[in-house]
Amino acid sequence: MLIRFMMGGEGFYVVFVNYSLTCAVLIFMGNKIESFHKKNKLVFVSIVFWANTLIVILTLLFKNQSSQVSFMLIFYTITWICLMMVVLIIENINQQIAIREKLQRDEKLNVVSQLAASVAHEVRNPLTSVRGFLQLMSDGENLLESQKSYIKIALNELDHAQSIINDYLSLAKPHTEELSFINISEEVKKTVELMKSYSNIQNITIESNIQDSLYIKGNKGEMKQVLVNIIKNGIEAMNTGGILTVHTFENDGVISIEIIDNGKGMTKSQVKKLGTPFYTTKEKGTGVGLTISFQLIQAMKGKVTVQSEPGKGTTFTIQFPSA
Ligand SMILES: Nc1ncnc2c1ncn2[C@@H]1O[C@H](COP(=O)(O)OP(=O)(O)OP(=O)(O)O)[C@@H](O)[C@H]1O
Ligand SMILES: [Mg+2]
Repeated sequence: MLIRFMMGGEGFYVVFVNYSLTCAVLIFMGNKIESFHKKNKLVFVSIVFWANTLIVILTLLFKNQSSQVSFMLIFYTITWICLMMVVLIIENINQQIAIREKLQRDEKLNVVSQLAASVAHEVRNPLTSVRGFLQLMSDGENLLESQKSYIKIALNELDHAQSIINDYLSLAKPHTEELSFINISEEVKKTVELMKSYSNIQNITIESNIQDSLYIKGNKGEMKQVLVNIIKNGIEAMNTGGILTVHTFENDGVISIEIIDNGKGMTKSQVKKLGTPFYTTKEKGTGVGLTISFQLIQAMKGKVTVQSEPGKGTTFTIQFPSA
């Protein structure tokens, strides 16, 4: 604009108005434009561009300089074609980066889950036999009370190990079998009730607003596993107490489950890492909770989005097509 100003002439004011308007539109709509599809972006850029052109041409006509209109039209058409190409190129580059990132993540997940599954499988067998013998021992008659309690602790710890191993095993298991119609409203309600006892200990209230009789195609047990993982994360993020909100509603054939916490939140780069196997910031975390949950949601044809702000909280939105 500075250069155009130095060139002088009345045209500067048209350029000034045009560019200021365009800047304002872009600043106000910046975030929205980012979420547009490629086609919509092209349409949007074209509309803004031709609106600019229209203003210039109207000005020319107004000032009786119509001889310049045809030149301007050719000039703007060429500029528009170049602009479209630039937008397309940028879009394609962004798409490729996203695909490459997904590929890398999937590949890592594949290797890790196979490794985890084979180790977990090998470890499970000796664990089962140890558990069996401990159980036999505990039935013995001439045991002291203290010995009995030791055996009980050992059995509990073995069960804990078993459940971790089951988690790892489900990383590698394909989850596409057994999809049936499930009443998701019921499942969310049940899980919220289940988690209430866990949250009470930590001074956290769970509030829920669940629309009745919503159905999706999925698997009850797996859906519960997903909800428990995400709600548990929300509770763990609010270690000083707070409110966890669970919304479930249908809109345009899409069922959304929102799990909102006002806990410690995450930065953009942390959000990006969610779902990566073994990514955890917790001392006792395994970092497989979300990896499994994201896989299960994908297998049920759903999708997840995460919005988070450090210090403010996190919103997980799970969406499924209504069945
Ligand atoms: N609601 C949340 N608020 C803040 N951080 C979160 C939230 N949910 C997940 N995270 C972050 O993502 C990480 C990974 O979560 P994930 O559930 O996969 O593993 P984990 O909770 O650490 O361990 P576990 O496997 O026992 O669930 C967490 O360690 C935490 O840093
Ligand atoms: Mg977790």
